Amino acid sequence: MTERAIKDTVGASHAETIQRLIEARKDTPGALLPLLHDIQDTVGYIPADCVASIAQALKLSRAEVHGVLTYYHHFQTEPGGRHVVQVCRAEACQSMGADALWSHACQRLSLTADDALHGATTPDAAFTLKPVYCLGLCSTSPAIVVNDRLHARVSCDDFDRLLDTARSAA
Ligand code: FES
Repeated sequence: MTERAIKDTVGASHAETIQRLIEARKDTPGALLPLLHDIQDTVGYIPADCVASIAQALKLSRAEVHGVLTYYHHFQTEPGGRHVVQVCRAEACQSMGADALWSHACQRLSLTADDALHGATTPDAAFTLKPVYCLGLCSTSPAIVVNDRLHARVSCDDFDRLLDTARSAA
């Protein structure tokens, strides 16, 4: 897909940015994951319409790019909310109440657990909730991330406070 084709769906400024990022990485071996990180870090998500141009530039199939993009929960294919909340669902956190915390988070944000499984954004675009699988804070679980900031031993009450703080800072 050309830059023009991307522009039709993601807007001119994002299309130019994404094309520039692709150009910068396209000749680097093993560029797919670093490029996906580049795009998400810069644009905030990875538009599904970029898969074809990424595949073409890196000489991969669309299926390969799509497979990697959808395998890692870290990557978003749609614009996210103003605040991103990640709740650890891995084993250590599960043993310390992460399932209840996840249910609470979904309820608090009025999102279904099924939707949130791959990341979901509240209708007012204030929050994106997504699962993550180990944040390296296993000994102080359950752990979450709010806007890139780690929080350990998070109770449901703590979660509510962190959400309120993020909302009031917006
Ligand atoms: S399992 Fe949750 S931080 Fe490691």
